[in-house]
Amino acid sequence: MLRPIICFVTTNAGKLREAKDLFKEHFEVEQVDTTYPELQEDDLSKIAAYGARYCADALNKEVIVEDSGLFIDALKGFPGPYSAFVQKTLGNKGILKLMEGVEGRRAEFRSVVGYCAPGQEPVTFTGIWWGDILTEETGRNGFGYDPIFSYRKYPVGEMTVEQKNEVSHRRRSMIQFRDWYLSKIK
Ligand code: IMP
Repeated sequence: MLRPIICFVTTNAGKLREAKDLFKEHFEVEQVDTTYPELQEDDLSKIAAYGARYCADALNKEVIVEDSGLFIDALKGFPGPYSAFVQKTLGNKGILKLMEGVEGRRAEFRSVVGYCAPGQEPVTFTGIWWGDILTEETGRNGFGYDPIFSYRKYPVGEMTVEQKNEVSHRRRSMIQFRDWYLSKIK
């Protein structure tokens, strides 16, 4: 059976790998490996909506983009919308340093998928994943902040893509998008 093709605008190989696994039964995922302007905003939904509209109009096709971030309670939500910049600058070691001696280690990952067709309004889908910040980097899997995040005491850096995709923020946002899109094209 012919499956619909979903165009995912991202330069992030980790996000692409997870999306391909999540959508494997329903869509072909075509990557557009390019950056796009990111709004300076606290709200990931606004960033994803703006990015989706921009890419749909620039590429003249329907697209999804995904914006995500790590929000650490003890750091009042930092790095949040600055997660990509902080990952490149402070890195996981820098976050662990900021968290040295901190007892409350709750944090959440957020993922927002933005979908848009050319000339139309964007639609967003949000997923949240609660966990804890570890005290040291653990595991060799995943990407970004995965080596310092644990879910129910299980280090995410030791999860396979399939295991992470059973429970993650990205699963929650992408599956909502998938179900919405499949019912739209039915
Ligand atoms: P952006 O969505 O491209 O702005 O990236 C947000 C930042 O959070 C990047 O540094 C990502 O590597 C990181 N990030 C996003 N999702 C995840 C994840 O599932 N695990 C670990 N790090 C993530």
